[in-house]
Amino acid sequence: MGIDSNTTIFASNRNAFWLSRSTLEKRLSFFLPAYRADGFSIVTTGLASNASFVNYVRHHRITDLRTGATVDVIEKSIRKILFIPSLESRFYRERNVLWGSVHFKHPICLGVIETPWESLIFTSYVQGRPPRLASIAKIMAPGIAEIENLSSRYLGFSAWWQAPKFWTMDFFRPWYLVRPRFNFERYLHSLVKLARDDNRFADLPRRLLALRPIVRREANRAKNSQRCFCHMDYLRKNFFQSPQGLQMIDWSEFKIGRVGFDGGSYVSAVFRRSDMERFISVRAEFLATYVEVLDPRFDQQQALRNLDYLFLQNSLWYFLRPTTIADYKRRGKLDLLLEKYEYLLALPLISGR
Ligand SMILES: Nc1ncnc2c1ncn2[C@@H]1O[C@H](COP(=O)(O)OP(=O)(O)O)[C@@H](O)[C@H]1O
Ligand SMILES: [Mg+2]
Repeated sequence: MGIDSNTTIFASNRNAFWLSRSTLEKRLSFFLPAYRADGFSIVTTGLASNASFVNYVRHHRITDLRTGATVDVIEKSIRKILFIPSLESRFYRERNVLWGSVHFKHPICLGVIETPWESLIFTSYVQGRPPRLASIAKIMAPGIAEIENLSSRYLGFSAWWQAPKFWTMDFFRPWYLVRPRFNFERYLHSLVKLARDDNRFADLPRRLLALRPIVRREANRAKNSQRCFCHMDYLRKNFFQSPQGLQMIDWSEFKIGRVGFDGGSYVSAVFRRSDMERFISVRAEFLATYVEVLDPRFDQQQALRNLDYLFLQNSLWYFLRPTTIADYKRRGKLDLLLEKYEYLLALPLISGR
């Protein structure tokens, strides 16, 4: 028997715990029962990865030497700390949740192998062009609303004994919240330094610090709102425009978050890369579509508040990072940086709070 895409689909979708990672041949024959080391050739290419716990991402092209048929597989290896599986591999264990998605397409997960030291995730290879995020607000909104809808139902229907597992994957656990991404004040020192040389920024560290109680208040409100799966990594390289639709990859930032968080994550990605005028129009376009497609089970007001909360957290972190400030300075774009800070400071007022 040879391999083809159908064999791949029907023979796989497995999880296992192994004591060692074993050989690539053994790993492949676990997912592709038709695979035999002597009947196939494998060409492996390393792919660029930038998440901190990712050991590697590899593309394997497997060719059936008899028929010439090929199958392309992606292998992602993620390091464990204290034997704890990564959230990405834990997401893939729940992958059935996205069955039936029509808006975003998701590569097929062939299976996950856990060893004490790493998680090995095998998915199908997808091809396409990374989209310009600002141009696809109308596609993003229904895609995000669909993940929120499907996953919130899934959490709602899960058995009581699964609750502890989901609890550990929750966004609001202290072990996720310690990251600088959710503690923008840790980076204020870089703005203080800039303010010493540039008077326009003089008052900003104090004014930004005053946002802290507002962010805390919004976090507390969000915590008590409706839960769902959140991807939280809306970078253009995590999407591919393909004839089948918009493909989404890379669940390395996955958490059980709250309705609206992914919208905030997308809007903050646009905020990073666009000038103010473009950003404001894309945000408005996204929000108009999002409120239309958001499932009526969700509290719309709270979803929008959650969206702003996550947007604010993400953006404060990004624009206070020393590398971002240095980059704006080098490019002579400090005016734009100032405008971005002013926008973030005004946001709690814009939202009428
Ligand atoms: N299923 C896939 N199909 C095609 N390319 C992929 C796939 N998964 C990953 N890649 C490529 O590998 C890169 C790194 O993988 P990703 O899962 O995004 O890792 P990281 O968490 O390090 O960003 C992606 O930006 C993409 O170019
Ligand atoms: Mg990525």
